[in-house]
Amino acid sequence: MTETQFTPRVFSGIQPSGGLTLGNYLGAMKRFVDMQGADFETIYCMVDLHAITTWQDPAALMHNTRELCAGFIAAGIDPEQSILFNQSQVPEHAQLGWIFNCVARMGWMQRMTQWKDKAGKNQQNASLGLFAYPSLMAADILIYHATHVPVGEDQKQHLELTRDIAIKFNNDFGVDFFPITEPVIEGAATRVMSLRDGSKKMSKSDPSDMSRINMTDDADTIAKKIRKAKTDPDALPSELKGLDDRPEARNLVNIYAALSDKSAAQVLAEVGGKQFGEFKPMLAELAVEKLSPISSEMARLMGDQSEIDRILARGAERAREITAPILRQTYEIVGMVGAGSD
Ligand code: TYM
Repeated sequence: MTETQFTPRVFSGIQPSGGLTLGNYLGAMKRFVDMQGADFETIYCMVDLHAITTWQDPAALMHNTRELCAGFIAAGIDPEQSILFNQSQVPEHAQLGWIFNCVARMGWMQRMTQWKDKAGKNQQNASLGLFAYPSLMAADILIYHATHVPVGEDQKQHLELTRDIAIKFNNDFGVDFFPITEPVIEGAATRVMSLRDGSKKMSKSDPSDMSRINMTDDADTIAKKIRKAKTDPDALPSELKGLDDRPEARNLVNIYAALSDKSAAQVLAEVGGKQFGEFKPMLAELAVEKLSPISSEMARLMGDQSEIDRILARGAERAREITAPILRQTYEIVGMVGAGSD
């Protein structure tokens, strides 16, 4: 453990590798907004360097990066209060990522479940970047000496690895330089599941559009997807225990809870005994009420892309005020000539 007191600082990132889903919103973005305020400096990033670890069409990547920026702002991130930028404009992420590639071990990477899932059966054909993905992610966080990282549950293993990299670097060089970051995995929707299959995560890469709610979906589409969501024939229980072995029911209750800022137990106390025929329209109405203002604001912001680019450039400039000195100190610790005053 480190002795140094680090400034309370939040960092998190989202890949611009497709549109934003309800999973990204409830598991991450909505919570980023909650953390913005007096207690922390907040830094949020569109991780375009991570996105290209799998093939991205260049024009689509640009569009998705700008749309994601619009999504952050529409959801409530204030680009003055928080630092909002895309990763490739802050070169210190990739530079520290290289140092961490030399600290992390092959075996650590091979154990990552996301690597195994994404590379699939044909690991030999996956990009080297996909294999090193978690090391760049550790660099994203540690180049800010971030102390807290809000994410969904699927990122837990990557954050454990981030701690391992910080510990190994500190030990290898006999320093107390990188903080041991706290993952913040909280709330009713840390793992939003597919609307078609309660055992699968809701994901932008699922081939079925009916499996997810996109933040750009209109009210009719949202209502249709919820109406058609897979459920079971039983009524909703009044207590959490009654959701055991009912993954689809649990998922819809969790979504309702997260959208209404309640716990799943509170929601069940209110809706226990109702059939899905009654609960689904309630959920659809709540989802439309909460998501429509965000999607229309995203569309409005996308009407002025030069303003989005200006926000990203300004965010990158502010980010570099933090990252440049931390990279220089890292190089000095590692022994790079020209990095320090000696
Ligand atoms: P990404 O782009 O896959 O997802 C962004 C965030 O959304 C959360 N999330 C979900 N939460 C609940 N339910 C879901 N179905 C769901 N789907 C996605 C993710 O947990 C994440 O918090 N590796 C990261 C991006 C990254 C990053 C970082 C995050 C790169 N560097 C540094 C934190 C700190 C990723 O692929 O997220």
